[in-house]
Amino acid sequence: QTVALDTIIADKGQHRHFMAKEIHEQPSVIARALGAWISDDRQRIACAAEAVDWARIPRLTIVACGTAFYAAHVAKVWMERVARLPVEIEIASEFRYREPPLPARGVTMVVSQSGETADTLAALRYAKAQRQVTLGLVNVTTSTIAREADIVLPIHAGPEIGVASTKAFTAMVLCLSALAVMIARKRGEIDGAGERAHVDLLSTVPRLMSETIALEGQFEALARDIAEASDALFLGRGLMFPLALEGALKLKEITYIHAEGYAAGEIKHGPIALVDEATPIIALAPHDALFEKMASNLREVMGRKGRVALIGDGAACRAMADEVWRSVTLPAVDPLLAPFVYAVAVQFIAYHAAVAKGTDVDQPRNLAKSVTVE
Ligand code: AGP
Repeated sequence: QTVALDTIIADKGQHRHFMAKEIHEQPSVIARALGAWISDDRQRIACAAEAVDWARIPRLTIVACGTAFYAAHVAKVWMERVARLPVEIEIASEFRYREPPLPARGVTMVVSQSGETADTLAALRYAKAQRQVTLGLVNVTTSTIAREADIVLPIHAGPEIGVASTKAFTAMVLCLSALAVMIARKRGEIDGAGERAHVDLLSTVPRLMSETIALEGQFEALARDIAEASDALFLGRGLMFPLALEGALKLKEITYIHAEGYAAGEIKHGPIALVDEATPIIALAPHDALFEKMASNLREVMGRKGRVALIGDGAACRAMADEVWRSVTLPAVDPLLAPFVYAVAVQFIAYHAAVAKGTDVDQPRNLAKSVTVE
């Protein structure tokens, strides 16, 4: 959002950088966003998208760029799992020029912090021209996307100043998860009790994020080692695949370290050739149904002298701690909520690596907060 310079200076508070402030703000941002997305009696999700006939639509298309695209990727998993709604996710700059056919009476959602990203706006205009019902999930509610979308869904993150998006990402994920719960109800996948249970689950996110923020010192120590590297790999499966992509994006944006995010099951199809003693491999491994598969991927990597930094939660992570180069154990978390706590982990890794390298955290080279050119 547009903020006067003196407000910006005052606003950094006790933090050295806006990015640090915005990481630390996340528990209160998420609590506020959730408050705006649930009914007064806290029994159900309430938002403008209830007007859509979700029971009839064949699939949802979500279009975005950068970090907003990774939030869409998390949403795809939530919506397919909780609402059994097929979801296609598209990078806006590809979608707009490919001009794909869209289903009759279909719904297209664009996701954008700024609401001004040129490619995302063009994607919205294309979807409208195809007679789609359009949803705009935005932070800046006075933006062009907010003005042009049929239905505006605010994420309530407040002004985000750091070029590297942090609180807008987790607020997007929160709102998209809430949307998935509402769609599940409208499609008959969950009843009232099921919806209440999901609302209760989402209500635990601020506490889980605060507990993760309290581990900052451990991430700082890890990040100092990662800052020495010239390349890094982030690995994840399921909901952690988009978090691996987000972790790699954050690291490259503000430290200029070359980083890649991969679906862990893919590494044997090529990226394992990159594994050596100098490349940190940051493994995002929640204790979920895929943990054992992830552990076996990591053992393949370690068998080739790979330096694995294991970010996990609960007993499974602690049990593997002796095998790996470094580990940080996060609060035990329901697998559906893992994106929120693992987001804090990858944000801190990037932030503290950038501080260690002395790069410009809030204004990295070559980047703008809002990309209004094609
Ligand atoms: C993320 O840290 C970015 N700086 C960038 O990828 C950003 O998410 C992207 O440009 C999309 O911006 P938007 O959400 O304002 O559309």
